[in-house]
Amino acid sequence: MPLANAFLGEDEFPTEYFYELKPALCGNCHLFQIIECPDHEKIFNPTYPYLTGMSSYVTAHLRQTAEVISSEYLGRTPSFVVEIGSNDGSFLVNYAELGIRHLGVEPTASAAEVAKSRKINTCVDFFSDGLAGNIRSEHGPADVIFGANVIAHIDDLKGVASGVRELLADDGVFVFEAVYLGDVIDNLSYDQIYDEHVFTFSVQSVAGIYEHFGLELIDLEHLETQGGSMRYVLAPVGSRDIQPDVSRWLAIEKKRKLNTPETMDAFRNGVEAARDGLRHMIDDLAADGKIICGYGAAAKSTIVMNYCGLELSRIPFMVDSTPFKQNRFSPGCHIPVFAPEVIQEKSPDFALVFAWNHLKEIMEKEKEFTQKGGGWIVPVPLGNVAGDSVILSPSRG
Ligand code: TMP
Repeated sequence: MPLANAFLGEDEFPTEYFYELKPALCGNCHLFQIIECPDHEKIFNPTYPYLTGMSSYVTAHLRQTAEVISSEYLGRTPSFVVEIGSNDGSFLVNYAELGIRHLGVEPTASAAEVAKSRKINTCVDFFSDGLAGNIRSEHGPADVIFGANVIAHIDDLKGVASGVRELLADDGVFVFEAVYLGDVIDNLSYDQIYDEHVFTFSVQSVAGIYEHFGLELIDLEHLETQGGSMRYVLAPVGSRDIQPDVSRWLAIEKKRKLNTPETMDAFRNGVEAARDGLRHMIDDLAADGKIICGYGAAAKSTIVMNYCGLELSRIPFMVDSTPFKQNRFSPGCHIPVFAPEVIQEKSPDFALVFAWNHLKEIMEKEKEFTQKGGGWIVPVPLGNVAGDSVILSPSRG
């Protein structure tokens, strides 16, 4: 696989980087992970193209999360908030606006610049235990440490856990959101497994790992974001009551044998059937002369296109609202990416929505395409998300 977010120019085709994408489940800690982790400096480079603020739904979700953290978990307004992977500042802005002390840690210069232009205090670096110690010495302990879709991206899991414990105040909370393994399995959304998603957490794996670092899972909430995520809330051991949802979810995972080799084998079989199903669907539409464009050059698109062999002859172009991705080519398959307005100009018959986690928002924006008879396809079976008859998706085999 190429790096999922490494959209490139034609001159870079000959030197494109590839690695082996190979997932596995650890027999000891039950952590679902990829075996070969490309160098993180290669992935989160100065031109990393992802900006959180491009989705109004995600921005609204982060605002609501900031409120929940203050009211439910702290019972007060925090005095110092740190965010790991603060991107363009879409979460921290909710505290900055209230004059609350905050610090974002963001390694990608492209996103950090956007945050700084919004007056969000940002340290352009990778989070590590060393950096956590420096932040504590300079600013004092954090009442809240937050990370949305970033903790599962950092291969130095232990460095993050010990850094968080060091920086967190004794009555503070560490809250993070990550794609949930149970949803990946249910939706057969193999496109969530790529170089940036080093780990796909389950409740059992999170509770087990953080226990070793003096942090206890005290609460959690299942969320619709990212196609199915979990918000984990951790606190120093013994500092807070553990909410009943923690044992409820551990029991659910045990009952459905989530963290077991049998489940993984069934997942692999389902994924292969979904790949063949999508490939046949696209081949049949192409044989009928239909034009299919990709919608949303999400990291997930790289996995689907490269795994299913969807090349230029099948997907002549993609559209995406992120300026950094436009007028570049998709990793591996080299499909050109244009601004969404190009849809009106080129009038494809179908849009294959790689960013299916934003399907509702995208379909709302593209009502005209639907009204003119344009069809929608999602690349994975989405057991419990789609269900609308105008949306085509591969079967579960
Ligand atoms: P994500 O699934 O990793 O959040 O990436 C979503 C991609 O989809 C991102 O590149 C931006 C793009 N996008 C659009 O092009 N239009 C939209 O309306 C939305 C919400 C996202």
